[in-house]
Amino acid sequence: MKATITASARYLPERILTNSDLEKMVDTSDEWIRTRTGIVTRHIVAEGQASSHMATHVANTLLERSGSDPDEIEVIIVATVTPDMLFPATAALVQNNIGATNAWGFDLSGACTGFLYALETGSRLIQSGGYKKVMVIGVDTMSSILDFTDRNTCVLFGDGAGGVLLEPSENSYGFIDSILHTDGSGGAYLLMPGGGSLHPPTHETVDKRMHYIRQDGKIVFKFAVKGMAEVCADILERNGISGKEIKLFIPHQANKRIIDAAAKRCGLTDDQVLININKYGNTTAATIPIGLDEAVEEKRLKTGDLLLLAAFGAGFTWGSMLFRWGFDS
Ligand code: ACO
Repeated sequence: MKATITASARYLPERILTNSDLEKMVDTSDEWIRTRTGIVTRHIVAEGQASSHMATHVANTLLERSGSDPDEIEVIIVATVTPDMLFPATAALVQNNIGATNAWGFDLSGACTGFLYALETGSRLIQSGGYKKVMVIGVDTMSSILDFTDRNTCVLFGDGAGGVLLEPSENSYGFIDSILHTDGSGGAYLLMPGGGSLHPPTHETVDKRMHYIRQDGKIVFKFAVKGMAEVCADILERNGISGKEIKLFIPHQANKRIIDAAAKRCGLTDDQVLININKYGNTTAATIPIGLDEAVEEKRLKTGDLLLLAAFGAGFTWGSMLFRWGFDS
């Protein structure tokens, strides 16, 4: 039994933060941000809006687009590093908000690779034969953990959510293969040190700015270029597929230069690669499902097309997935 994506959805908060807005907040420039990252604008939540609110928008759209009743949903997996609270899980908040009374669910912490980890988990649940409707959502409210006095990190991220509904495939299309990795030795290069059981919140952790994201950008960049390019090449080779056969490559959107390196390694041309980092920045677990929903809206995928997904992020975590698309978008 193959798992297939039967609906997609995205949600971006209304407020837009531009590079010129950031020029007024830290010592940076529109030119530096555009040329080093490809980012021009990013969306930021309204006051009081959190990950569960964005994820609920996505879940409701998935119900609507798939014509599913809330009580038909069996599992809700939410990939996020910015849950509303440490517990209860954001998935539980979404489950209640949409009235999915028969669903169980959980949050999954895989940073920028979180959506791929969640998509793998959801696909395998469908493939087990035990489940017929699994929602997989990637959401992050990065603005809640950004230090808006640190130019090294605050210009890179944005808020947003995206998701898909997975169901058993009625044709032979759907999930083909995945390669997923974790290398915890990279943990120190990209992290939020405070707020967990090691450094619970205290006045000292707040004073030391430990509840904000910290990144050694240069080292992460080096590993991301290598990791994402290799894992894309590996999945194509393992499945005997050439770059030319890929209809669309939707990579995690952390830096345009990282994406270009992976595309080049696989021999992909610009028209095969989805790029939206200019509009949204890095929305962590949400980048891939947001891109996928845009591709569906722009009718870039037809039945039988090969879709390649890839990501790299904190952990380190990275991976790639291959799908044969199951319907004409
Ligand atoms: N504006 C102006 N100057 C800046 C800014 C800024 N916003 N940020 C950094 N600089 C300065 C630095 O201080 C440095 O100055 P110095 O040479 O005087 O020390 C200079 O620019 C160059 O800095 P680099 O770090 O060499 O710049 P680089 O070209 O590497 O780009 C970037 C930095 C964009 C962060 C890049 O390294 C990158 O994209 N890294 C990977 C990010 C990533 O993939 N993260 C993983 C996913 S995130 C997740 O999992 C949650």
